[in-house]
Amino acid sequence: MSVTNEEFRAALGRFASGVTVVTTRDRAGNLHGITVSAFSSVSMNPPLVLICIEKTTGSHHAFVESGVFVVNILSADQREVSNQFAFKHENKFDGIRYRLNDLDLPVLEGCLANLDCRVVKNYEGGDHTIFVGEVLGTSIAENDPLIYWMGAYRVDSYQP
Ligand SMILES: Cc1cc2nc3c(=O)[nH]c(=O)nc-3n(C[C@H](O)[C@H](O)[C@H](O)COP(=O)(O)O)c2cc1C
Repeated sequence: MSVTNEEFRAALGRFASGVTVVTTRDRAGNLHGITVSAFSSVSMNPPLVLICIEKTTGSHHAFVESGVFVVNILSADQREVSNQFAFKHENKFDGIRYRLNDLDLPVLEGCLANLDCRVVKNYEGGDHTIFVGEVLGTSIAENDPLIYWMGAYRVDSYQP
């Protein structure tokens, strides 16, 4: 049994996800950020999450080198931020509001949540690498989430 790329994409596109921008810094000190929907919680004790990064992206080496990253969970009004980090750009951080955390990594402003992580394990995942990170610190805010479904952005209303 096997599926075509089209069948795989069509089925997986029906899974609604949030949108994150994952940031890190390479050995030379350059900042990197990449839009990632392949993000999941893994474990509560210890607190673990995972991200899947395509091996061919320009930022892949930075995640391997640094061993640390920040997951920035985007809010409904950060569609442009998602697009800026999803395509090759001279400087992806142009016009982006962020602060540097204790790990010297960019923490984006205006997000629903930010998670500071340390890589504890890498796994082969076909054309992606699965980075499992221990969550060292978090910050949160209340807002509507940015959602990605069927190849397009959607917004869900936040009702406390
Ligand atoms: C909504 C959305 C979700 C994405 N999710 C992922 C993902 O989970 N993993 C990944 O490697 N790339 C993902 N991408 C593609 C990357 O964001 C894109 O290839 C990357 O920013 C290229 O940057 P770079 O080559 O400069 O590092 C996603 C793109 C979009 C628009």
